[in-house]
Amino acid sequence: MSETPNRLVTAVILVAAGSGQRLGYGMPKAAVPLGGEPLLTHALRGVVASGISSQVCVALPAGDDGLRRLCEDFREELADGGPVLTIVDGGATRADSVRAGIAVLMEGIEAVLVHDAARALTPESVFHRVADALAAGAAAVIPAIPVVDTVKTVAATTGQDSALAPEIVTGTAPREELRAVQTPQGFQLSTLLKAHEASRALDEKQSAAVTDDAMLVEMVGTQVFAVRGSTQSLKITTPLDLILAEGLLEGPLGTRWVEG
Ligand code: CTP
Ligand code: MG
Repeated sequence: MSETPNRLVTAVILVAAGSGQRLGYGMPKAAVPLGGEPLLTHALRGVVASGISSQVCVALPAGDDGLRRLCEDFREELADGGPVLTIVDGGATRADSVRAGIAVLMEGIEAVLVHDAARALTPESVFHRVADALAAGAAAVIPAIPVVDTVKTVAATTGQDSALAPEIVTGTAPREELRAVQTPQGFQLSTLLKAHEASRALDEKQSAAVTDDAMLVEMVGTQVFAVRGSTQSLKITTPLDLILAEGLLEGPLGTRWVEG
């Protein structure tokens, strides 16, 4: 795209209601310290710094007073003209937390970016690429990066093969076509509403297989476009990811290394 089209009136739904089981800190992931501050503070700062949103809806673990206070304090520090910060209780699943955010969107919102608080170091440039594609007319857009590993499909071994190894390779995916998908994922409001409405018809097993919002949009037959993501947008999931994120903040490349 040669020039930036006029941005749509945009909300960010920041989902931060997960429990952080795999990180194993015994507290919600959003509260886990990163560079001396809670992960959620980094995530909120990144969203606001991008300047793309009129509203930020934060989904928090229900009843977590500490995280609620953090958001309220953050709201007080927002400059005049900054986004409206709306706090909402998240749900049992990530999709439930997204729906809780959808339920509190302000009148006049035209586009929504759904973002994982766990991707706390996402560069502003990624928000801009997603917002620009929406402004240019895409109904749905996701940030994605090429996959560096070769990816294979496998099945559990059976019969005599199970004495050899637990799994057998069934195929190799063409790597040049594969992308690792990140957030923020952007949608025209009508597209996101339609996708989440349709998801009500899914049974429990189908719902569990839905790992991002774009998948719901694909299911209703709407085209999803991809823009360049960033390795800096890593999803902090395991203790190793937290070490990497600490390294990004404190490493020799500066306090906030920005991969464009
Ligand atoms: N999330 C949410 N509500 C849930 C589950 C997840 O808002 N019920 C959010 C998380 O807070 C996170 C994002 O969705 O920002 C991606 O989820 P994940 O990385 O799996 O975080 P957790 O669910 O907290 O981690 P774990 O699965 O290890 O418990
Ligand atoms: Mg989870």
